[in-house]
Formats: sequence, C-alpha cells, structure tokens
Amino acid sequence: MHKSVQDIINMKKKEEKISVITSYDYTLASLCDQAGVDILLVGDSAGMVMLGYENTIPVTMDQMCIFTEAVSRARQNSLLVSDLPFMSYQTSIDEAIRNSGRLIKSGADAIKLEGGAVMTETISAITDIGIPVMGHIGLQPQTTMLYQGYKVQGKTKESALKLIEDAKELEESGVFSIVLELVSHEVAEIISETVSVPTIGIGSGSGCNGQVLVIQDLLGMYEKIKPKFVKKYMNLSEDVVKAVKNYKNEVELGIFPAQENWFSMDEIELKKLRDEIGR
Ligand code: KIV
Repeated sequence: MHKSVQDIINMKKKEEKISVITSYDYTLASLCDQAGVDILLVGDSAGMVMLGYENTIPVTMDQMCIFTEAVSRARQNSLLVSDLPFMSYQTSIDEAIRNSGRLIKSGADAIKLEGGAVMTETISAITDIGIPVMGHIGLQPQTTMLYQGYKVQGKTKESALKLIEDAKELEESGVFSIVLELVSHEVAEIISETVSVPTIGIGSGSGCNGQVLVIQDLLGMYEKIKPKFVKKYMNLSEDVVKAVKNYKNEVELGIFPAQENWFSMDEIELKKLRDEIGR
C-alpha cells in the first residue's frame, strides 16, 4: 500500500522530515519510488526539464495527464501529487474542479496549485469534493516571470507578514501541506511553526518540515539554470555525455556490437539457408 495524505500529515506530528522529488517518467519514477522518497511530485517544471520550454507557462493539462499516468504506473510506495498547470484553475472554480479530477483519473492522489489567499475559495471547493490539495506560496513560477523574475520572497517585514497570512489562509481552506518556494529561512521557519500542516521547502532552508528538489537538478542533468539552493548529488550529465561518446566511438570502430550482443541462427537452419541461396 502506498503512502497516504494522512501519513504525510502524521509525519509532521511525529517530527519526521518529508522527502519530495519531482518525477515525470516511468523509469526515473520507479527508481525514486524504490529509493523510498515520501512524495513523487509531477511538477509543471516538466515543461522546462522534459519539454525544453523557457518556463512553466506553456504547460497544458494534456501534458500533465500524460506525465501523471507514466509516474502512476511506476509508483508503488510514495504519495503521488500532480501540479495543475497555468490557466487550468484560475478561470473558474468549475474548471479547477474538472482539471483536478482529470489529474486524479490519471493516477494522482492529490493535486498542487500555486497561490495564497486568492486561491482559498478554489481550494475549499476542490477539497470539499474529496480531492486533497497541496498549496504553493513564496515564489510562484507560473506568474513570477510576469512580474519580477526569480527573487527570494519574505525578505521584508511586509512581505513576511503577507506570506504568514497566506499560509494561515491556505491551512484554513483545507490544504494538507504547503510548498514554500524561495522563502527566506527565517520566514519559512516561522510559517512551519505557525501552521499545523507540513511545509515542504525548496530554497527555503532547513526549518521546513520537508524538502523538494527537481530530479534533474539532484542528478546534475539540467544545466540551464543553476540556483544556489540546488544540491547536485551526482554529475550525471558528464557521465551521460561520456557514455554516449564511448558508444559512438565503438560503433565507428566496429567494437559494438560484440558477439555477446547478438543472436545466432540454429546451425542446421543456417546450412539449409546457405544451400538455398548458394552462399
Ligand atoms: O513544478 C515543480 O517542480 C514544483 C516544485 C519545484 C515545487 O512546483
């Protein structure tokens, strides 16, 4: 049986840290699930790391459903949360419910959406019909590019108070956890102590109840943006380039494939064939 939303809520009560990793495809999701990560997040960051967009704005519901289906086929143990992409929930509550339902039908256990106090009515409507929601405040990539670009949030008293208020309102509206993206360490810690639901930090320091990283960042595979908060646990891009160069070289030199990589005909059948074609 995989982890449930309640298991994640209980982890905060038991003071256990929550590990979250983004996942978009079957193969890597299987490995992350095997590694025992608590939550697989099908983030709309898929638009950047899987589809090569400049930001998450172009991501569609159809794309999120395909990624969610792939990850759900791999998942055995982790909770599966999927992002509602830009403009799939902002236009109306009906639209938000319909699209949350599509992600659940694609295999998600819960959905995530960006926004603070302005989203509480939408969040309540989604949770009222029984779909668990993860909130997301601080830097909100879907709209941040339209205003100011990537900037740390909660560095002044005013913005800190707004973030704390947003977190409280999200909790009241029924979210089961809140992502805090690029929030100053101090404010993230205060929010984590203020709300009863777990906080999941990205670039928000160690005071959060859990952490999330994009899998390509953790593996050292995505070189386009290198934020300070990312920790590379390996340098896979170097290893991949080295391996593919090696393969190309062996193909050119006739080293690959070798006998152990091919399949042979039955000798009697081969003789019959040779007799027939005269070779
Ligand atoms: O889309 C995403 O990957 C996210 C996480 C980074 C929190 O929203």
